[in-house]
Amino acid sequence: MIIAQISDLHARPHGSPAYGVVDTNPAIARAVDQILKLDPRPDCVLVTGDLSDCGLPEEYGIVRAALERLPMPVYVIPGNHDRRETLRAELRPGHPYLPQSGFLHYAVDDFPVRLIGLDTVIAGEDGGEICAAREAWLAERLAEGQGKPTAIFMHHPPFAVGVDGMDVMPCQVSPGFARLIAAHPEIERVLCGHYHRPIQLRFAGTIGYVVPGTAHQVALDLRPGTENRFVMEPPALALHVWKPGLGLVSHLQPIGDYGPIRDFVLDPAYPGKPQTVPAS
Ligand SMILES: [Fe+2]
Ligand SMILES: [Fe+2]
Repeated sequence: MIIAQISDLHARPHGSPAYGVVDTNPAIARAVDQILKLDPRPDCVLVTGDLSDCGLPEEYGIVRAALERLPMPVYVIPGNHDRRETLRAELRPGHPYLPQSGFLHYAVDDFPVRLIGLDTVIAGEDGGEICAAREAWLAERLAEGQGKPTAIFMHHPPFAVGVDGMDVMPCQVSPGFARLIAAHPEIERVLCGHYHRPIQLRFAGTIGYVVPGTAHQVALDLRPGTENRFVMEPPALALHVWKPGLGLVSHLQPIGDYGPIRDFVLDPAYPGKPQTVPAS
């Protein structure tokens, strides 16, 4: 099973780039193009929030049209740049797994890896939370999974990443949240967006994973006390590949044209074993 993950599309009304300069809509199209070029194609695509930049119906129309080009199931969750009810109204007809009311969270049991999407949004705030009701809902979904390999996906990371500009707007969780995750070793990953960078760390006995955005990235700034700024570093998508006996392996695939794929032609002075077939 191959799970593709893209994040932080930040769709904008036509002619109105994000932050005045980031042309996010063509970047969404390039991300979709990249997925369509993959061989083999992913079995499904996760979109981990900030689908829109301002939660406007026009922005969701752009997202809807872009994601409709994907022939495989696509699962979306909201981020802080989304508006829960507008997202539901604009996308639910093509995304019937989204609940009719309440939080936009759900579980998907159609694949070898169970997928649980969490809604971390606090309306009107940058940061997110898993409140008591959402934590209880997650506990029920995990219990009904009966140990099946599981990937949780959510917009706001529920862990600190050691970058001050990012850690001021995390996902607030209770101490019980980490205990709940740790009590379910079948959770292969907690997949997130929001920070617009590739980040991995150990979290509650599993792996916390943050994927870059499809357009702008947050500039890496490890100095204490600095605020987030953005930079046009290469966007990327993640491919989480599940193989029985191996588990879930996460690959990061830059989005864009980086030239042809070439064979390794070894120099005669190469110290390894001579081979007729070029090796990496
Ligand atoms: Fe974002
Ligand atoms: Fe965000």
